Amino acid sequence: MCGIFAYFGPKDNAGELVLEGLKKLEYRGYDSWGIVCKNEDGETIIEKHVGKISDANELRPELTEKPSHIAIGHSRWATHGGVTEANAHPHTTENMDVTIVHNGILENYLELRKELQEKGHKFTSETDTEVFAHLIEENIDKGLEEAFKLALEKAEGRYALLAITKDENKIVAARRGSPLIVGINKENKEYFIASDIPAFLKHTNNVMYLDDEQMVVLNDGVKFFDLKTDQPIEKRIVEIEWDEQSAEKGNFEYFMLKEITEQKETLARAINQDDDLIREVAQAINGAFGTYIIGCGTAGKVGMVGTYLFSHIAKKHINFMFGSEFGSFLPFMTDKSLMIAISQSGETADTLEAIEEAKKKGVKIVSIVNVESSTMARISDIVIPIKAGPEKAVASTKATTSQIAILELLAYACAGKLDEGKKLLVETASQINDMLNPRYEQYIRKLAEKIKDVESMYIIGKDLNYPMALEAAIKLQEVSYIHAEGFAGGELKHGPIALISEGTPCIALIANDHTKQETLSNAIEVKARGGYIIGVSPQNNENFDFWIKVPDAGMASPIISIIPIQILAYQLAILRENNPDMPRNLAKSVTVK
Ligand code: F6R
Repeated sequence: MCGIFAYFGPKDNAGELVLEGLKKLEYRGYDSWGIVCKNEDGETIIEKHVGKISDANELRPELTEKPSHIAIGHSRWATHGGVTEANAHPHTTENMDVTIVHNGILENYLELRKELQEKGHKFTSETDTEVFAHLIEENIDKGLEEAFKLALEKAEGRYALLAITKDENKIVAARRGSPLIVGINKENKEYFIASDIPAFLKHTNNVMYLDDEQMVVLNDGVKFFDLKTDQPIEKRIVEIEWDEQSAEKGNFEYFMLKEITEQKETLARAINQDDDLIREVAQAINGAFGTYIIGCGTAGKVGMVGTYLFSHIAKKHINFMFGSEFGSFLPFMTDKSLMIAISQSGETADTLEAIEEAKKKGVKIVSIVNVESSTMARISDIVIPIKAGPEKAVASTKATTSQIAILELLAYACAGKLDEGKKLLVETASQINDMLNPRYEQYIRKLAEKIKDVESMYIIGKDLNYPMALEAAIKLQEVSYIHAEGFAGGELKHGPIALISEGTPCIALIANDHTKQETLSNAIEVKARGGYIIGVSPQNNENFDFWIKVPDAGMASPIISIIPIQILAYQLAILRENNPDMPRNLAKSVTVK
C-alpha cells in the first residue's frame, strides 16, 4: 500500500524521473500523489494532487525549471485522513526544513502530535505521517541522519520512511514492516529507492535490500546502518532477473487481462521447481506436529484449497486460517508446528504479523511467494518461489493459479507421488494454453453482456471448488463492484437460497468428479427458484442457461475453474466502465493491519 520512489544521481531532471518511476507503482495506491524536488539552489518544491498519477503528464514548471538531482515521490492509499491534497504526501515542516514520504502506520501519532503541538509545531494535515516531519525537525541541528534516527526511536508501528532537508544533499530512508528496496546503477552513479523493483528496472536491475530496522543514506555513495546497534552494515548487490518488459502492459489495455493471459506460461514456470526443495518441504510437512497454511484474501482461498488437496492426495489433515485470524491459534503452536504462508507480494501485514508471532514460538516457516525480495521471503526458513513475474493488477490472477500449483506439488510430494503431480500439472498447463484464446474471451464477454446490470450473483462449488467459489466471489466483487457471494453448494438450502429470485445469476463450478452430481443438484435447486444457471464444467447439462466449457483436470480442477471467472470479472469491469487494474478502495500489497 502506497508507492514510494526516490532518485539521487547526476541526472538533472530528478522530478521527472520520479514522476515516471512512481507511475509504475500506482497499483500500490492511487487516491492521490505528490513529489518533492530539491533543486541546485537548495530549494525544496512540492507538488501534490488528488487523483491518479497516471493522469499526470508533466510536473509544474517550478519543479523542473532548475536542475535537480534529488527527488522523492509518493502515491497514496489513504489510511489516516481523507483523500485531500493536504493529506497527500510529501509532508513538510512549517519552513520546509524537513520533507518526508511514508508508507505504513505510525501507531502512537496522536500522542506524539500532541507533544509536538505543545512545543509549537503547526500541523497542516490529518495524517499520522506529518508527525515524522516535525519529529525529525526537533533535532535537525544534529544533522539529518541523527535527527532521523532519534525520530525513529519514538515511532511505534510500521514504516517505510524517506526524508530530505533543505540544508543537506542527501536522502535518508529506513524501514520497519513496509518494503523499500535500493536500486543502484554503478556506472552512472545513480541510486533509486522504491517500494517495488519494477519501478526502477528501466534504470538498473542491481538491487540492495534494506531489511527491517535498517537505514540507508544516499549522498556520495550509499551507506547502510543497523538501527538497533547503530553500526554500519555491508550489503551485497543482487542482480534481479525480471526485465522491464515483464512489468509493462505491452499490447494489452490492462494488466489484469495481460496477467490472466500469461497463465499459459506462468503455470509452467511454477511447476518447474527444484524437486529437492519440494521434497524437503514435503518432508517437513510429514514430520510436523501440525501444519498451518495462512494467507489473506485470494491467497487465503488458495490456502483453503490446500486443505482439500492434502486430504485427497496425501490423506493428511492440514489446517488453514486467515493471517488476520492466526493470533487466536497461537496458544497451541510449538516448535514442532509448521507454517506455510502464501502471499503474492510477501508484504501483507496480517500475514507477516502471523509469521512473526509464530516464529517467537519456534514454528518453522515455509513461504510460497511471488516477490522473492519480499520481507516474507527474507524472514522465512524455506521459500518456494512461484515465479509468476510481476503481478500489477490489484486483482490477483496468475499468482493464484501458480500458488495452487505449488500446493498440488507439495501434496503429491507428501504422498511420495511428485512425478504424478507434475505430470498432471504439465497437462493442465497445456490445457490452459488451448483454452486461453480470444474466442474464449469473446464467448465469456457474451455472458458478461447478459449479466452486467444484475444486482447480485452467487457462485457455488463443492470440495476443491468450494474455496474457488469464494475466490470467484472476490474476483467479481473487486473489479465489477457487483454483489457476489460464494457458497458451498450444499449450504445453499440452509439459508442463502432465500436470496435467489427470477434471473439471479448463479455460477456453478462443477468438476468431473465425485462431487459432480451433488453440485448439479444444488444448481437445479437454484434453477427451480428462477435462478439463471451458469455452468463452469467439462460437460454441458440441460439445466445450464449458459455453459462455460473447461477441461477436465482432475485434482487440478481449481486451477482450471477459476480462469473463466477471472475473464468474466475482467469483462464485467470493462462493460461497467470500471478500471480493472485499480479497483476503488483497494490497493495491491496490503501493508497495513
Ligand atoms: C484479491 C487480492 C487480495 C490479495 C490479498 C493478499 O484479488 O489480490 O485479496 O490476495 O491482499 O495479498 P498477498 O498475496 O500479496 O499476500
